[in-house]
Amino acid sequence: MTTSPTPTAPLVLGIESSCDETGVAIVRGQELLGNAVASSLEEHARFGGVIPEIASRAHLEAMVPMIDEACDQAGVSLTDLDAIAVTSGPGLAGALLVGVASAKALAFALDKPLYGINHLVAHVGVDVLEHGTLPTPMVALLVSGGHTNLLLVRDIGNDVVSLGQTIDDAAGEAYDKVARLLDLPYPGGPHIDRLAAEGDPTAIAFPRGLTSGRDMQRHRYDFSFSGLKTAVARWVETRRAAGQDVPVADVAASFQEAVVDVLTRKAVLACAEHGATHLLIGGGVAANKRLRALAEERCAAAGITMRVPRPGLCTDNGAMVAALGAQLAMAGAAPSPLDLPTDSSMPIELVHVADVA
Ligand code: KG4
Ligand code: ZN
Repeated sequence: MTTSPTPTAPLVLGIESSCDETGVAIVRGQELLGNAVASSLEEHARFGGVIPEIASRAHLEAMVPMIDEACDQAGVSLTDLDAIAVTSGPGLAGALLVGVASAKALAFALDKPLYGINHLVAHVGVDVLEHGTLPTPMVALLVSGGHTNLLLVRDIGNDVVSLGQTIDDAAGEAYDKVARLLDLPYPGGPHIDRLAAEGDPTAIAFPRGLTSGRDMQRHRYDFSFSGLKTAVARWVETRRAAGQDVPVADVAASFQEAVVDVLTRKAVLACAEHGATHLLIGGGVAANKRLRALAEERCAAAGITMRVPRPGLCTDNGAMVAALGAQLAMAGAAPSPLDLPTDSSMPIELVHVADVA
């Protein structure tokens, strides 16, 4: 669902380059007009993970073609734009630089305001393009190869707090590492998702990280997947050492159940404890079928409405940046300075970098 454009809805171009996707999109208010994404994923596949230098070079090559494509799709020219938004953090330093330098050049040449925005908050803000204005307070669970965060959103423009995050591997990273030890291709999430559907999720009792009584006091909304990954590795090694076959589907299903059990349990708890009636799930792992099913089941039991943007908006893209940029512009937020720095570890509380001079 999208809202119809109003005369005051700003036309915003958004640029995303924090990891391996070069995304450029154009949004008018809460309406997506053009969304171009180039990915360097295949160039990283043989290394089993994203190589920052390869990602930066790929952004350099893809940036101008993606800007042109987004404008073509939207049927607008650069001079029509009201503002430029860009991910200024968190992410890979060299990759962020390409997007931020491009956005500054556009903002300077067109004499339009620049908004340097937080990638994690943009993962939440993107949902206005699909499901309309965000109800608040809302809890957001962001799960991808790079992040696993639980956020409390009271105002998408200036009041977002971190409730918890992973203390080691990201959820998607755990999927990718377990897939690797099961000899599945990178990225492993979709392969485990598919295989798990044929396996028994109760076959092996893998650990649920940070859910014991003591951990629930110190790390109530935090996650840990490193112990789970090690437990899967040990289990598989023991089978192999004994000359036994590894029941890959059962391992995949049991591992996956451990991940989604903890993710959904803590997300629903966060909603209940913060008076949130809506849970948003974003990031590449939001495509996971079992995560969606269990989250839906547990949300329904707790009277919580689940919002998940469509897969193309869950993974990294320029639309999320343009959408948050438009919301900031509509709220009258101060733009960023033209010497906007990148911040690879930008704190979640900083929704965008305002010019305080
Ligand atoms: O958001 P994303 O495209 O990129 C970033 O990491 O920023 O997320 C990619 C991650 C990978 O780790 C991939 O294995 C995981 O999302 N993923 C999945 C599924 N589809 C992608 N994990 C579990 N189940 C899936 N269906
Ligand atoms: Zn992301």
